[in-house]
Amino acid sequence: MAPAAAATAESPSAAPAREPILSVNNIEVVYDDVILVLRGVSLDVPEGEVVTLLGPNGAGKTTTLKAISGLLRTENGEVTRGEVRFMGENIANMAPEQIVRKGIFQVMEGRRIVEDMTVVENLRLGAYTRKDGASAVKRDLEMVLDYFPRLRERTGLAGYLSGGEQQMLAIGRAMMARPKLILLDEPSMGLAPLLVKEVFNIIRQLNRELNMTTLLVEQNAKMALGAASYGYIMESGKIVMDGAQQDLLDNEDVKEFYLGGGGEHRKSFKNLKSYKRRKRWL
Ligand SMILES: Nc1ncnc2c1ncn2[C@@H]1O[C@H](COP(=O)(O)OP(=O)(O)OP(=O)(O)O)[C@@H](O)[C@H]1O
Ligand SMILES: [Mg+2]
Repeated sequence: MAPAAAATAESPSAAPAREPILSVNNIEVVYDDVILVLRGVSLDVPEGEVVTLLGPNGAGKTTTLKAISGLLRTENGEVTRGEVRFMGENIANMAPEQIVRKGIFQVMEGRRIVEDMTVVENLRLGAYTRKDGASAVKRDLEMVLDYFPRLRERTGLAGYLSGGEQQMLAIGRAMMARPKLILLDEPSMGLAPLLVKEVFNIIRQLNRELNMTTLLVEQNAKMALGAASYGYIMESGKIVMDGAQQDLLDNEDVKEFYLGGGGEHRKSFKNLKSYKRRKRWL
């Protein structure tokens, strides 16, 4: 059930919740005209919330983000069914530049900073679509550097930053675009546990202090559910479960398969008997 719908169900007398800022409705995605990767994916992101999309390698998490940001196009992918509604408008298959201008910024897997530019040059790149003047951009640059004091100290090329610093820079660059929605693809990837903590702390802080709306793709379910208010679990191109943060943290199947234990011999979540039973109840 969608987060907004859940809130109304619990308090039927309350005013109907606002439409989520992003609503992905039953999308199908095909690469190269033949490879069907997403098979009817739906998810909602309410304004001002962090929502996480979890799932194993190859589930279709990055593809979902690219369907939202329009970057599918650069890989000969297409949304062949369903809608991606952003602020009430269907943006499925729009050009990525147009989607950035509408206020969606994707931070790609593997960071993708420009290594032979400085920190400040990288940050300024994030602001390239803005039209609100140099002084507003300068003010935001200072704000971002206040959030990431370590980046302020690094005056050399971004290629020399540590992995964690590069991830911070990638997030800072997204902030420079003043997006209405940030799509974060596996920010914990390749980072040591201490740095993972730091990155998730900043995601929580940005949400709390700047009301940043974020769709967070992760394999690290524990960290992601620590930052998100609602989560979806995806396997083989489908959402197999979703729920509020605490419900997912308390769920026995989620605990077994996504919150430690399990390991390499993990069976597929969707093949699990109790999961199937549970699904029938829902
Ligand atoms: N450009 C592409 N062309 C064809 N198939 C692709 C393309 N990109 C991804 N796929 C396939 O789509 C499926 C989903 O891939 P995707 O990258 O979305 O998964 P993911 O959940 O992000 O995985 P990971 O956790 O490994 O990043 C995989 O089977 C992958 O091989
Ligand atoms: Mg991925």
